[in-house]
Amino acid sequence: MKVLIIGSGGREHALAWKLAQSERVGGGEIFIAPGNAGTAQIGTNVPIAVEDVAGLVAFAREKKIGLTAVGPEIPLALGLVDAFQAAGLTVFGPTQAAAQLETSKAFAKAFMQEVGIPTAVSTTFTDYQQAVSYLPDGPVVVKASGLAAGKGVIVCADRAEAEAALRQIMLDRAFGAAGDEVVIEERLSGPEVSLLAFCDGQTAVPLPPARDHKRVYDGDLGPNTGGMGVYAPPPDVDAALVEEIMRTVIQPAVQGMAQRGTPYVGVLYAGLMLTPAGPKVLEFNCRFGDPETQAVLPLLDGDLAEIMLACAAQRLTPELVRVHPGACATVVMAAPGYPGNYPKGLPITGLEAVPPDVLVFHAGTTHTNGQIVSSGGRVLCVSARGADVGTAVTRAYAGVSAIHFDGAHYRKDIGRSA
Ligand code: AMP
Ligand code: GLY
Repeated sequence: MKVLIIGSGGREHALAWKLAQSERVGGGEIFIAPGNAGTAQIGTNVPIAVEDVAGLVAFAREKKIGLTAVGPEIPLALGLVDAFQAAGLTVFGPTQAAAQLETSKAFAKAFMQEVGIPTAVSTTFTDYQQAVSYLPDGPVVVKASGLAAGKGVIVCADRAEAEAALRQIMLDRAFGAAGDEVVIEERLSGPEVSLLAFCDGQTAVPLPPARDHKRVYDGDLGPNTGGMGVYAPPPDVDAALVEEIMRTVIQPAVQGMAQRGTPYVGVLYAGLMLTPAGPKVLEFNCRFGDPETQAVLPLLDGDLAEIMLACAAQRLTPELVRVHPGACATVVMAAPGYPGNYPKGLPITGLEAVPPDVLVFHAGTTHTNGQIVSSGGRVLCVSARGADVGTAVTRAYAGVSAIHFDGAHYRKDIGRSA
């Protein structure tokens, strides 16, 4: 079977790596649109942008692609799954209507209230004055409702900060139309965890839980990033807690979406805070996490193509999602300056010198004159498994030490909290 993977980051390299091992793919061609220098080692990169839904449909038709897997949220928001289904193509991911769980925080909050999923108490506004007059004196979180590349959430200590956040989002339109609607919610506290579950519209089966490190510097300091590293599973998230999250969050979400006539197929990603009152949802994402995927897929023993086909055909079973014992850790190597401005085109050396038990997933890389160079802020994701988080982390850092590019920076404390 031929497969097509849409996207170009570390997540998509990990998806390509895992799908290449599938018996269903069985040496069939793998295409990645648009891909990076890492995906080019596994399959064929195709220069079609993730937003070009018509171009992707035409390519999949022409090549007779048997399974398409979607990485980022943008094509899902644009209705790529609907277009593929209309063209009779098998695709793994939610429809535009189901993807609203991520693309509209206002929708997600109303839905959670309706079906009784635990989440921060919130109110949604489209009018700036009304939003301002609602603000309490204490801490709140202000969120642009639409897609804002992970930047539309502002955690505010007091009323003045919240007013500034509303001004930035609603009046200055820092995130464009994504901020036409805002959610103001109660500020929660506790450790965070990401739980990703495969869903076929009725049945949901979890992957191992993972903990992302969003801040750029050690000790969770500095600005937020797309994610600087991750480990799975966190020792404080045991099987009973995963079961509780499935029962109180994931399963009610899947049932609720089915009841609305918009069944959820794909990966449902719950970003949760473990509060003293139990796990509560911070956000839903309608796709695999990045970098969570680079730590979670190495722990999946099941056949990923088989699982995706089962989801698309409403025949997912827990037996398909076999999980490897132990842990996995991923360290992100970033370009100097990231998450601010950063140079591109930095030559990368040492990739061939990483120990054999280390996986290097490319995030922002490309080929120039026969050499692999950086092309993004997050450049490489270095993953390793181990019997426990500590062993996995040590191995991942051994991989990082072998690799060089000018000004590379990475967190030195991934997994320390475990
Ligand atoms: P989100 O994109 O909604 O996951 O928010 C990004 C980050 O903001 C989360 O990972 C949390 O660290 C923080 N955050 C979001 N919502 C809340 C909340 N209600 N209380 C405290 N922190 C939050
Ligand atoms: N790791 C955060 C995300 O994928 O949204």
